[in-house]
Amino acid sequence: MAKIVVTGAAGFIGSNIVDYWIEKGHEVLSVDDLSSGNINNINSKSLFFQGDICSKKTSKKILEFSPDVICHQAAQISVPYSVTHPYIDAKINILGTIRMLECASKLKAKFLFASTGGAIYGEIKDIANEDTEPSATSPYALSKLTSENYIKLMSQKFGFKYVILRYSNVYGPRQVPHGEAGVVSIFLENLINKRKSTINTFPEDNEGMVRDYVFVKDVAIANDRALELDKCGTFNISTGIPTKTKRIFSLIVDALKRYGIEVSESISVPNYADARPGDLRRSLLDSNRAKEILKWEPTVNLKEGIELTVKWFLERRGQVRT
Ligand SMILES: NC(=O)c1ccc[n+]([C@@H]2O[C@H](COP(=O)([O-])OP(=O)(O)OC[C@H]3O[C@@H](n4cnc5c(N)ncnc54)[C@H](O)[C@@H]3O)[C@@H](O)[C@H]2O)c1
Repeated sequence: MAKIVVTGAAGFIGSNIVDYWIEKGHEVLSVDDLSSGNINNINSKSLFFQGDICSKKTSKKILEFSPDVICHQAAQISVPYSVTHPYIDAKINILGTIRMLECASKLKAKFLFASTGGAIYGEIKDIANEDTEPSATSPYALSKLTSENYIKLMSQKFGFKYVILRYSNVYGPRQVPHGEAGVVSIFLENLINKRKSTINTFPEDNEGMVRDYVFVKDVAIANDRALELDKCGTFNISTGIPTKTKRIFSLIVDALKRYGIEVSESISVPNYADARPGDLRRSLLDSNRAKEILKWEPTVNLKEGIELTVKWFLERRGQVRT
């Protein structure tokens, strides 16, 4: 059994990771300032500390808990917000990470980091692996890339191990609309509330942009494999399967219908609009390194994952029985 701190534990991915580790019998300290996270996501079998990762009080609490591992998921996660508020983005994502690295340095605790393949590689022609040159085109991408560099430098200087996981577009239960796979919850909310949805497209392609959707439970398992790894490394956590936005929309419509939710003809046909500034045409990540070294592969396919996500949304609204 390990002692683990998970930051961002009231958020979408962090809470799913905590649930996975509590189930496995680990002792977990959940840390979150609840700035966007939901208190109901905190696993009641974990200890909970409400605090800002940038504050010394939070560091003090972590040092007292003395974990073997710090799994750092807390972040400002919105790309558009990072463009309008680069200072706040850098404060949370870079300085907050450095605070957590100071704790790891003092404790010699292993450091697991939630990075972003989608944003860090930027626009790609085919598929990006971990050796693809990063091309950070937003403050969010740059703050994650800078954090990765701090992790490597401080690990070398202070002798703690690290694993950087570059997630693709993560979707699943507890997902929030402003994340990198935000379309899933945006479409779901629209369809359930009988509102029309919009797919943003580039002129040459009327089915939306290409993304690599990975289910959140698989991301939790990847963190678990990273916990067990006895060396440092950087890994893409993704499926490598290209999916266009329209396919996501259709899968959600089909799943809702299977749960007996009425989807009228007019809302089951989306509107189309031009791509927004900064939208990437294609984001696709090769996870062969994770397969080989972490012994990790995605286990949930897109259709199953969307089904599970729709079920969770409906259960939360009392529209389907558990
Ligand atoms: N969702 C995706 O598709 C995706 C893709 C790539 C990478 N990531 C990364 O994965 C991590 C988790 O993302 P998520 O989708 O679960 O986001 P989320 O917004 O659901 O969770 C982030 C959590 O961090 C907390 N937080 C924010 N600032 C904080 C601070 N200063 N101090 C303490 N807590 C703070 C929030 O309250 C929230 O609970 C992030 O680091 C994100 O950049 C997510």
